Amino acid sequence: MSAILEKAAYDAAYEAATAAWSRYNAARIAAGYVAEPASTETMIALKYPSSIWDNLIAIALDGEYKEYYGFNVLIVPEQLIDNDKQLAALRKKYPFTAGITKMEPNTVYNWHKDTNRSGTINMMLWNEESHCLFTQDAEARVSQVEELIYEPATYYIFNTQTSHMVVNLDGDRYMFTLEFVDNVTYENLVDFFELGNVKAEEFDNWCKESDD
Ligand SMILES: [Fe+2]
Repeated sequence: MSAILEKAAYDAAYEAATAAWSRYNAARIAAGYVAEPASTETMIALKYPSSIWDNLIAIALDGEYKEYYGFNVLIVPEQLIDNDKQLAALRKKYPFTAGITKMEPNTVYNWHKDTNRSGTINMMLWNEESHCLFTQDAEARVSQVEELIYEPATYYIFNTQTSHMVVNLDGDRYMFTLEFVDNVTYENLVDFFELGNVKAEEFDNWCKESDD
C-alpha cells in the first residue's frame, strides 16, 4: 500500500472515530449528564460540559503545531474560547492563553511539577491509550498513584503543583490546556468555580440559558 493510501485510510478512521465519540457525547449531554465534581486535592471536574469540544477537536487534528518548552503546541483563537460560557467567565477574571498540546505515541512525560503554572484547566480532546497520573511522592522507589480519567467534553481543574506524569502508549494525544497571564493557583480556580467570584446562582442560570 502506498503512503498516500495509508494516510487516507488513517484519516478516514480518525474521522469516523471522532464522529462516533461526538455522537456519544451529544447523547450523554441530551440525557442530562453533568460531570461529577470528584473533589480531591489534585483535580476537580467542572460542572458543565464544554460547548466548544467538537470545534477544538477539529482544530487539534488539522492545526499547525509549534515547539514550546519541548512540546508541540498550537494556540486556540480567543473568539472560540468566548463561545464557551465557563471559559469566557474565567478569562474575564483571570486572563489566559488557551492551547492544544500534541504528544507523540510511545512517549512519557516524567514526574514533575509545572514550573510556569500553579494551576490550570485541562480537557482531553483525543487520545488512544494514555494515562495521566498523580503521586504525593515522586522521589520514592515505589509510590501510590491516582489517575485522572478524562471524560469527554469535560474540563478539569488540575493541580500542577502535585507531582504528575503522562504516559502515552498509542496514537497522538491532544490536550486542551490553559496558561494564565498571572500566577493563578489551583485554589483560585476551585474558588472561582465553586464558591463563585461569579455568583453561583447567576452563573448557573447563565450556563443553562446557553444550553437551550
Ligand atoms: Fe505538567
